[in-house]
Amino acid sequence: MSEHAIEVILNGRPVRARVESRRTLGDFLRRDAGQTGTHLACEHGVCGACTVIVDGEAVRSCLMLAVQADGRKVTTVEGLEASDGSLHRVQQAMQDAYALQCGYCTPGVVMTLAAALEANPKPTEPDLMEALSGHLCRCTGYQGMMKVAKRLAGGGE
Ligand code: FES
Ligand code: FES
Repeated sequence: MSEHAIEVILNGRPVRARVESRRTLGDFLRRDAGQTGTHLACEHGVCGACTVIVDGEAVRSCLMLAVQADGRKVTTVEGLEASDGSLHRVQQAMQDAYALQCGYCTPGVVMTLAAALEANPKPTEPDLMEALSGHLCRCTGYQGMMKVAKRLAGGGE
């Protein structure tokens, strides 16, 4: 199996690695880079649990190869909080709305909302609901996610 040298700017720091051609970004993040906050569930691009931000866009890391992330900026849920340890406003809104149960789907949901806010700091509630529409929650915690969308709409918290 051929290997490739890659360098990814991961949560603001360069990470160099050698990866097999077929290594997914999700496996690279969890197994090689130790960023286990990114969760893998369906591994078929269906559930959204593995979502991370690549160059500002929400990406399903089970569908992207690690080699495709070479030279790009990747943010995982570990990279969202500020340097003083304060939560990102999406994380704060999730906490305030008690919008998680087992939490397995939560990092992906948080990253999708964070990417949506990065693209548009004042989204409407329907904008955020649409962004969330690609996420599955086995605990059926959709009411909590809807509350978060409501809190974040228009730039609120
Ligand atoms: S694990 Fe990637 S979309 Fe489900
Ligand atoms: S909170 Fe359990 S899968 Fe969503």
